[in-house]
Amino acid sequence: MMKYRSSIREKPWFLGLVIVGLIGSALFIASLIGISDNPFLCPLTGVKTRVDSYLPTSIQLQAVLHYATSHIVPQQSIGEIRITFNVLKSLARPCNFLVFGLGHDSLMWASFNPGGTTLFLEEDPKWVQTVLKNAPELRAHTVHYRTQLKEADALLSSYRSEPSCLPSKAYLRGNDRCKLALQNLPDEVYDKEWDLIMIDAPRGYFAEAPGRMAAIFSATVMARNRKGSGVTHVFLHDVDRKVEKMFAEEFLCRKFLVKGVGRLWHFEIPPATNVSQGARFC
Ligand SMILES: C[S@@+](CC[C@H](N)C(=O)[O-])C[C@H]1O[C@@H](n2cnc3c(N)ncnc32)[C@H](O)[C@@H]1O
Repeated sequence: MMKYRSSIREKPWFLGLVIVGLIGSALFIASLIGISDNPFLCPLTGVKTRVDSYLPTSIQLQAVLHYATSHIVPQQSIGEIRITFNVLKSLARPCNFLVFGLGHDSLMWASFNPGGTTLFLEEDPKWVQTVLKNAPELRAHTVHYRTQLKEADALLSSYRSEPSCLPSKAYLRGNDRCKLALQNLPDEVYDKEWDLIMIDAPRGYFAEAPGRMAAIFSATVMARNRKGSGVTHVFLHDVDRKVEKMFAEEFLCRKFLVKGVGRLWHFEIPPATNVSQGARFC
């Protein structure tokens, strides 16, 4: 014992060696059983010891199975899809993603946002049932629209005469007076701050269809009311059509348009507190 103590006193490097050996063994065991998520361990061990965040979610697995076995693909082109994909990737966290419309792309959008909230708003209750029967993990609500495509011009020229549609006063929940406001959505839609909003519905290709006017206006109001940091990413599809283009230019604004590919426009809308308040949205 005496001999051991004196050897420690005489050879401090021996004590250092023992400590390094103990730490090394602990790290090695921790990496084997995968219990440590200490980020400092990664550079030392060279491997990430906790792999939970790399496990695919059940919706991602379902999406792989679906798209690998289906001949029906999403309508957006790869270039268009990549815009949203890249934004989600760059945000690098679970996001709040609101999508107007259920379609063949729904499983894809939800899978791009693992661990986040991806919520779909769909006009056709029968289509909701059909889609959810095959993909019950998707979260969707039916929305009733008060507009028709044929009213688009009149709505655009008259909305400013209704105070509750004006940029300084516009709100959504319970706003029965402003026809462009989606006023009776589930509370969850109003209570969440949406990081991304995809507008690829409702249908807007025949006169009696609801058109995208209210979706565009409501997405604008949600984005402008954002309290958290950062911008709201709004994606609008079918901008080759007159109504989508006119309403985008009136509410989402050219100055906030950051990218356009094919028929998709990407806007980054700042909270209204960061924007001068005038009589117009843009
Ligand atoms: C313009 S489509 C967009 C479709 C979506 N981007 C996709 O890739 O499938 C949007 C709307 O069309 C309707 N819709 C789309 N596919 C449908 C289908 N197979 N049967 C019935 N309605 C459909 C739904 O009301 C939906 O909200």
